[in-house]
Amino acid sequence: MAKKSVKSKNSGAKAEAEQVGDPEEAKFGETTDSEEIDKAFEEAMKGEAMGDEVAENEEDDVDIDVTATIEASGGHVDVDGLTVKDIPGVGPSVAKKLIDSGFKNIRAIATLPPRTLMQESGIGDKTAEKIVKAAQELCKMEFTTADVVFEKRKNLGRIVMSSNALNEMLGGGVETGAITELVGEFRTGKTQIAHQCCINVQLPVDQGGLGGRALYVDSEGTFRPERLAKMAMAKGMDVKEALKNVIYARAYNSEHQINIMRQARKIIETQNVKLVVIDSLISHFRGEYFGLGSLGPRQQLLNMHLHQIMQLCDTYMIAAIVTNQVQAKPDVFFGNPIVPAGGNIIAHGSTYRVYLRKGKGDTRVAKVIDAPGLPESEAVFKITDKGIEDAET
Ligand SMILES: Nc1ncnc2c1ncn2[C@@H]1O[C@H](COP(=O)(O)OP(=O)(O)OP(=O)(O)O)[C@@H](O)[C@H]1O
Ligand SMILES: [Mg+2]
Repeated sequence: MAKKSVKSKNSGAKAEAEQVGDPEEAKFGETTDSEEIDKAFEEAMKGEAMGDEVAENEEDDVDIDVTATIEASGGHVDVDGLTVKDIPGVGPSVAKKLIDSGFKNIRAIATLPPRTLMQESGIGDKTAEKIVKAAQELCKMEFTTADVVFEKRKNLGRIVMSSNALNEMLGGGVETGAITELVGEFRTGKTQIAHQCCINVQLPVDQGGLGGRALYVDSEGTFRPERLAKMAMAKGMDVKEALKNVIYARAYNSEHQINIMRQARKIIETQNVKLVVIDSLISHFRGEYFGLGSLGPRQQLLNMHLHQIMQLCDTYMIAAIVTNQVQAKPDVFFGNPIVPAGGNIIAHGSTYRVYLRKGKGDTRVAKVIDAPGLPESEAVFKITDKGIEDAET
């Protein structure tokens, strides 16, 4: 079938080649017998395939000697100043493939599984392995001591949440380098908190922001720029500027959502993005994969998606807020049958887990239900026209 269409294409090419007098095409077109044309086509395809193989092998032969770079720097490699081009042995074609697919930053490569680097950039598997290993060596991603980690954690950026109670509960606000999950029933304030953080991340550091932009991935169609405008106005910000600083993408299905996160890397690198919001993380996955039989593939994909997000948080030291729905567990007879959706995958994948529920009157109650180093505690807040506020002001 494919051959047939190629044949007719070739005969067309022959006529055209004869007209314009292209010697190469005319030579190929000299064969009149259809079997010969087929043979010639197969030969030509073989040649092309072999060419590909050679190119791939050449690429796989990249010779990476990281020691040279470390020695040249006197042992103090400026990783932030390095790009993939600076890895010795990485030629221009491999470097171009990496840069074109968004991998400029060495830290981004160092924290990626080689298989993902291979899939996303189109380089060979052996090359991917070598490059990831070299990037890890350059970033000195091996052992360290607790005091060094302590110093690093002291300098972690945080985004305030416009409520002292919420900030206190989360140890100062939404942490960078981590995934904060907001989980709760409908109308408990997940989307409102996410919107508020898109405004607050823009504040200067001394006012509790990160002086950066937000990237909002909306899977439920509940993103409201007019709500952002009100929140920005309440903070005395230039509203137009504030809206420009929120980069928006609507995710139409789970695969699209995963793809958006792939593309997010380039945007984060170049657009000063400090916060990524995914509202909601799970709704497409829940909608598309239902029934016991599809639970495995769904959880696998969700796990991969969470790893994508975490890798971006780690690499660029940005914050991520994901929202999650709840589900009723039919087998719970005592206690609360309402549990976060997504099972263990989301429970383990998110760093901070905040459970939201409705409180007295128009208040909302947030509770930290899983957080490394934070006690389980509650905070009461309210949602007003200005955004998120303390319940008692
Ligand atoms: N302008 C406003 N003034 C006061 N309260 C508001 C305003 N806009 C929204 N709210 C409050 O926020 C609630 C909706 O919260 P939000 O959209 O964050 O819920 P959610 O947890 O994301 O729910 P879902 O699971 O349905 O997405 C509304 O029910 C309302 O109480
Ligand atoms: Mg919502």
